[in-house]
Amino acid sequence: MIFQPLLLASLALAAAATEYKHFDCGTDVDAATKEFMSTLNDLHTDEKAGSPAARAAHLARDDANTPIKVDAVFHIIATSDKKDDITSDMPQKQLDALNTAYAPYKIAFNLLNITWTVNDAWAVGAGADDLAMKKGLRQGKYSTLNLYFQTDLAGSVLGKCTLPSSIGPGTPAPSVYANDGCSVQAGTMPGGDVDGYDQGMTAVHETGHWLGLLHVFEGNSCAGTGDFIDDTPVQSTSTDGCPTGSPGKDSCPTQPGMDSVHNIMDYSTDACYTGFTVGQVARMRSMWGMYRSGK
Ligand SMILES: *[C@@H]1O[C@H](CO)[C@@H](O)[C@H](O)[C@H]1NC(C)=O
Ligand SMILES: [Zn+2]
Repeated sequence: MIFQPLLLASLALAAAATEYKHFDCGTDVDAATKEFMSTLNDLHTDEKAGSPAARAAHLARDDANTPIKVDAVFHIIATSDKKDDITSDMPQKQLDALNTAYAPYKIAFNLLNITWTVNDAWAVGAGADDLAMKKGLRQGKYSTLNLYFQTDLAGSVLGKCTLPSSIGPGTPAPSVYANDGCSVQAGTMPGGDVDGYDQGMTAVHETGHWLGLLHVFEGNSCAGTGDFIDDTPVQSTSTDGCPTGSPGKDSCPTQPGMDSVHNIMDYSTDACYTGFTVGQVARMRSMWGMYRSGK
């Protein structure tokens, strides 16, 4: 009988690890550099200038047809308890999900390497463990997308990512950008155990941040600058699940447009996401060119 409370406790722990009622992302605009925020503002001002035709031309101008190829490295970091949960086919399926989501925008990911680590502290990545993990594992250059798939990601979030920042001229040492990359709850990979978020779209969303996008509900307000993108309707709340029915979700009814519940930069379920807007794609392409390409 003495074993029973222990058993119950460990069962409760196992269940808690995969219980996410809704998507939550820890990407923090407050942590973005001043320089990045001022770039956002400049790009936004540029896009709003002139007639609708001039704006359309501006968006189209961003070499929308030039393919972008992004090198990527995936890191799988598991606790010793969960080291067998992430099977060897999952990273390839995750790569497929990433490429399928970005293919319409001519952005492709080339997987250079996969690393496998068993480390109880890094699999959580709380506090200083986050940077220690990245310092230990990051590969490639500033233009290399490093995705850390952690079985017990800290902060009750499914993912979090760094936004681009200026790393200075030339080729700075990797230590300058050691922190760069995205953490993703490993159970969100295709075949994972996070209900509603198991098609790899968390990594797709986080990669959007890595390429310079904010949430479509950024600022949680119907006023202000929001996501600094002109063609995503103003939205003041994140979306849970996948609202259907009519009228649709509209958190800013006095402003044009309904909420972007199918947009990858909202918090909807994986199956609900359909893509990015023309403005978001132009933004990612601009940011790639300004911050990461060739770096
Ligand atoms: C892949 O990562 C391992 C470390 O886990 C490293 O030893 C190896 O050199 C890397 N391979 C390439 C092609 O970068
Ligand atoms: Zn996010």
